[in-house]
Amino acid sequence: MLIRPRRLRNSPIIREMVAETRLSLDMLVYPYFVVAGENIKNPIAAMPGIHHFSVDALIIDVAKGLKIGINKILLFGVGEQKTEDASSSYSPQSIVAHAVMALKAEFGKQIFIITDVCTCAYTTHGQCGILNNFDDVDNDKTLEVLAKMALSHAKAGADMVAPSDMMDGRILKIRNTLDQNQFENIGIMSYSIKFASAYYGPFRDAADSCPGTKDRKTYQMDFRNPLETLREAQLDEQEGADILMVKPALAYLDIIKSLRQNTNLPVACYNVSGEYAMVKVAAGAGLIDEKSVVLENMYAFARAGANIIITYHAHNVAGWL
Ligand code: PBG
Ligand code: ZN
Repeated sequence: MLIRPRRLRNSPIIREMVAETRLSLDMLVYPYFVVAGENIKNPIAAMPGIHHFSVDALIIDVAKGLKIGINKILLFGVGEQKTEDASSSYSPQSIVAHAVMALKAEFGKQIFIITDVCTCAYTTHGQCGILNNFDDVDNDKTLEVLAKMALSHAKAGADMVAPSDMMDGRILKIRNTLDQNQFENIGIMSYSIKFASAYYGPFRDAADSCPGTKDRKTYQMDFRNPLETLREAQLDEQEGADILMVKPALAYLDIIKSLRQNTNLPVACYNVSGEYAMVKVAAGAGLIDEKSVVLENMYAFARAGANIIITYHAHNVAGWL
């Protein structure tokens, strides 16, 4: 008897039949950066193919996405009025609240809107929270702001909120606030395992949320600590998170896999701006084939166990699947 594993690779049809990992459009979430103004679609230099959108232009792009099957989006606001206390982040007039209301008026239940909840685009110092007297982020003061921000997004019509700040106890605080205001059906996708990562570089240009000369290491996780990731995930699960996220994704496939094996909740991964930029720049220079590399990465996330993939490649992937 000949041992021939190659038999199962003989033709496209048989390869499709035996494929162990499937990728579906339903898994993809597409992020957007929303700015004030009208008729704005400005390219973001650090992220080729990604733009700043004003609300009117955003509606046009979301409609394009819906036509190709992208019906889940993640909204980031680029704050205009930055203050020490991030008060513009939770205003009913915030750029994100505006965008949510306009999108819901246009598309209703056809679109599923997740909003990023964090103060860094709305603070003068660019940190993901309110500072204490020692110039560090004050955990519990920040919780108050996050809860107000999440509530303002829910009131505008968001389907789900995604806190990305990494304060302790924020899931419980946000869950209680939503419940007390009759938003018990609004879900929470928690950035549970968010590492202090240099892969966020291009995003900080896009969201205008750079913490200056400081870093975010007093709240974001140390990438050397896989055991601690499970502790963070367990806490978020106990506090009422509906979906747990790992971020970044590509350098953290081991973390995605271990989270998948240690929770019964859906697991999301965030294919972040630096991962995106590396692929786009290499492809733009003709060094790699964009479609092949992007799909290889998407399958890697799915194979590691991600049920949901947040990616700036989503519109392209929709054209390729
Ligand atoms: C801010 C935030 C960041 C990202 C999402 N929300 C950057 C950071 O924490 O410094 C990164 C997204 C990306 O790089 O694509 N809370
Ligand atoms: Zn932040």
